[in-house]
Amino acid sequence: MMDVRQHNQRDRLPGKVYLVGAGPGDPGLFTLKGKALLEAADVVVYDALVSPPILAMVNPLAKLLPAGKRRGYHSLSQADITQLLIEQAQQHATVVRLKGGDPFVFGRGGEEMGDLLAAGIPVEVVPGITAGVAVPAYAGIPVTHRRLSSSVTFVTGHESIGKYRPEVNWSAIAEGSETIVIYMGVHNLPKIVQALTDGGLQSDTPIALVRWGTRPEQSELVATLATIEDEMKATGFAAPAIAVIGNVVTMRETLAVCQPEMITKAAMASYGGVNVPSGVSTTTETLATME
Ligand SMILES: C[S@@+](CC[C@H](N)C(=O)[O-])C[C@H]1O[C@@H](n2cnc3c(N)ncnc32)[C@H](O)[C@@H]1O
Repeated sequence: MMDVRQHNQRDRLPGKVYLVGAGPGDPGLFTLKGKALLEAADVVVYDALVSPPILAMVNPLAKLLPAGKRRGYHSLSQADITQLLIEQAQQHATVVRLKGGDPFVFGRGGEEMGDLLAAGIPVEVVPGITAGVAVPAYAGIPVTHRRLSSSVTFVTGHESIGKYRPEVNWSAIAEGSETIVIYMGVHNLPKIVQALTDGGLQSDTPIALVRWGTRPEQSELVATLATIEDEMKATGFAAPAIAVIGNVVTMRETLAVCQPEMITKAAMASYGGVNVPSGVSTTTETLATME
């Protein structure tokens, strides 16, 4: 079993930052390596999408610092987060940067890691299960299927025009991918659907939106490209959600009967109750607009 703290202190190195993926929410999907690091951490800097049962695994003596970002306002800018990590690593042996899903999938983990290395801080990535695979799976939707789809594209729906992200080529995606999985797409979904149909996707193509996937509050909305906007309005469907587009969505009719059991209740028992650290939001209300 790794003893990270001992290793770093013995060598008298500056502290090390671990970029850890927390997975999509169900604590049963968190890695053993991630859990060991949370138990050994001196400091944990966490994002807003990290679920409370996972935060409950943090060493009770560790400093717990929120850095979460939400649509509309950012708690800390990216530069502030990097600066915070550098400062914490200069003072502590083991700093965990805890991110939802996988740090390198729409998580700016690559940027953070590069900036930390440039500042001379040792850093390591611990991958997590990305929402784009696990969230559809918990809704009974496999992202590939031998009969229905042999390709899948993971794409961001949160484009900041004129900002750092290159523009998504929706036509190429419409033409070239049998399954399309969109992160952060709820807000822009009507525009995305228009771009995909302009690019050649049929308007009767099935689409599923899965909100708070792998968590007890998971909910789904299934429609077609033609009807999804009206369905969203009618139901008041809100972020955070994964959108899955393609014929794989039809598998839900067969597979959703055996949805994975949320292990949250079992996890609560095995972690001795979810003692959510003070200052950590547990309401979906405050996180509802997160993208
Ligand atoms: C900034 S991205 C981070 C993605 C993350 N790094 C990953 O690998 O899953 C945040 C977006 O991921 C999606 N997401 C993350 N967790 C989710 C969950 N439990 N249920 C539904 N969507 C989720 C939503 O689209 C959300 O707006």
